[in-house]
Amino acid sequence: MLRVENISHTFKSGSEVTPVLHNISFEVHQGDMVALLGSSGSGKSTMLNLMAGLMKPTEGHIYIADQDIVKMGENKLAVFRRKNIGFIFQAYELITSLTVRENVELPLVFQSVSPSVRKKKSLALLEAVGIPDKSELFPSQLSGGQQQRVSIARSLITEPSIIFADEPTGNLDTTTEEEIIRILIDLNKKMKTTFIVVTHEPEVAQRMQRIFTLRDGHMITEKRGTAESEPAEGVPDSENS
Ligand SMILES: Nc1ncnc2c1ncn2[C@@H]1O[C@H](COP(=O)(O)OP(=O)(O)O)[C@@H](O)[C@H]1O
Ligand SMILES: [Mg+2]
Repeated sequence: MLRVENISHTFKSGSEVTPVLHNISFEVHQGDMVALLGSSGSGKSTMLNLMAGLMKPTEGHIYIADQDIVKMGENKLAVFRRKNIGFIFQAYELITSLTVRENVELPLVFQSVSPSVRKKKSLALLEAVGIPDKSELFPSQLSGGQQQRVSIARSLITEPSIIFADEPTGNLDTTTEEEIIRILIDLNKKMKTTFIVVTHEPEVAQRMQRIFTLRDGHMITEKRGTAESEPAEGVPDSENS
């Protein structure tokens, strides 16, 4: 469902040239729970931004649902992103003037979904992430872990096929980190949503199903994590081993 093919990326500003990614290729199947692991500066966020269609790579192709997003024009890409891709950020990125429920519903407002349907879906997702009682509060009234739960619910409301999370537990203490990881693993199992989780913490990566490690912009290995995988239908076991 996601195929990264020979991606290289170099940042250029003036005479300064920073090569960041070198000939990266990998494939992710529907329902995979993937960690992108690497130390700070290894190129994780750049890779994530490219896969999410927020930037164009210097070289290579990225296919999501058989469409090359590198070739897509900005307007088409914006629509494609809204329909197929969800985001979870390290700093939650909630809108402080909206309630928890309004934050979760926001992506649907842009899709002209009726208020009653929006409400039903957002309340169900807030229940799924364990904070059904917080819907009418504002983000500032919530702990960091609770705010991240809201942002997870928001990422799921459009039923995207893939969710990108950039250091989703980066601002949280270890107990809360564990709660958030459990929620992500649980949602991945229940909803079969594909997750790509960027982290610099090996302990977090280890909890996922597949671990891709980046070092200095090179993909070095793929390892197996501890999250149980259910191979996607039609994918033979040999492809997963
Ligand atoms: N917009 C940019 N312009 C120039 N260099 C950048 C830009 N964004 C990131 N970089 C550089 O690319 C490298 C990888 O950054 P990044 O992808 O953010 O790594 P990570 O998320 O793994 O910490 C770093 O050396 C960073 O300084
Ligand atoms: Mg980063």
